[in-house]
Amino acid sequence: MHGGVYAKITPKTQPNPYLEVDERDILTPSGTKLTKINPAFMTRQANELAFEKYGIIAHITSLKPIRPQNQPDAWESWALKQFEQGSHEISTIETINNIQYLRLMRPLITEQGCLKCHDKQGYKKGDIRGGISVGVPLAQHLAISKNNLKTLTMMYGFIWFAGITGTILFMLILNKQISKRLKAEKELIHREKLEGVVEMARAVCHELNQPLQMILGNSEIILMEGTDKETLLKRVKLIQEQVNRMGKLSRKLIKIASYETKEMPQGKVIDIDKSSGLE
Ligand code: HEC
Repeated sequence: MHGGVYAKITPKTQPNPYLEVDERDILTPSGTKLTKINPAFMTRQANELAFEKYGIIAHITSLKPIRPQNQPDAWESWALKQFEQGSHEISTIETINNIQYLRLMRPLITEQGCLKCHDKQGYKKGDIRGGISVGVPLAQHLAISKNNLKTLTMMYGFIWFAGITGTILFMLILNKQISKRLKAEKELIHREKLEGVVEMARAVCHELNQPLQMILGNSEIILMEGTDKETLLKRVKLIQEQVNRMGKLSRKLIKIASYETKEMPQGKVIDIDKSSGLE
C-alpha cells in the first residue's frame, strides 16, 4: 500500500542491496539516516522474530527470486508449482533436521502496488509472485495431544464402564421386579379362581338345601306312616316337584356364562340366575 516504509539504519536493518528505487536511503532534517524497507524485507524480519520466540520457521520465497537467499527448498518449489496449477494452500507434515514440522504455504499474488518494484521482472497483476511458507514444530503440540488423548481415553473409558455397569444393574433390578410381579399376579389369579369355586359351592349348596330337605322329609313320612294311596300320591308329587326344581337348577348351571354375585348371610355367592341369563 505504501510502496515500502522508511526505518532507521541499525546493524540489523541495513540498506537492502536488491532494492533499486530512488531515495532508498535518506536523511531526516536532524540528520538521522533512514532506509526504505520493502515488504519482503519486513516479512523476513518478522519471520526472524517468530523463529526466535516460537521456533516457527517462516520463509518468503519465489520460483524466480530476486535475492538469491530467497531460493525455495524442494518442498517449497513443489508447493509453488502447485499454486501455478491452481492450488490456494498446501500443508503437510515434514521432517527437517530430525524435527517434525507442520508445513503450510500460501501464494503471494501480484497486486497493483507490487508492480511499483516488480514490473521490471515482467510480472502482471494476478500473477503468482511467490509465497510464504511456515513450519510449526510439532513436538510440543504432539505431546499436548498425546496427553489429551490419554485424559480423553480415561474419561471415555470411565463413562463407558459406568454406562455398561449401570445398564447391567438396571437390567438385573428390572428382571427381579418383573418376576416378582408375575409371581404376585399368578398368586392373585389362583386366589380369585379359588374364591370363584367357593362362591359357586355356596350358591349350589344354598339352592339344593331346601329341595333336599323336602325330599328327605317326605320320604321319611312315607316310610314311617305307610299312608293310604291318596296321601302317598300327594307326597310323591311333592318329591317330584322338588326334583324338577333341582333339574331346573342343573340346566341353569350348565348355561353359566358370566360372573355375577350377590351377598348372602353366609358370604358372597354366585348369582346363578343372573350368571346363566335364565332368571
Ligand atoms: C518497494 C519495492 C517493493 C514492493 C512495493 C514490493 N516488493 Fe517484493 N521485493 C522487493 C525486493 C527488492 C525484493 C528482493 C529482496 C528482498 O527479498 O528483500 C522483493 C522480494 C519479494 C519476494 C521474495 C522472492 C524474491 O523475489 O526474492 C516476494 C515473494 C515478493 N517480493 C512479493 C511481493 C508482493 C506480493 C508485493 C506486493 C504485495 C511486493 N513484493 C511488493 C521489492 C518490493
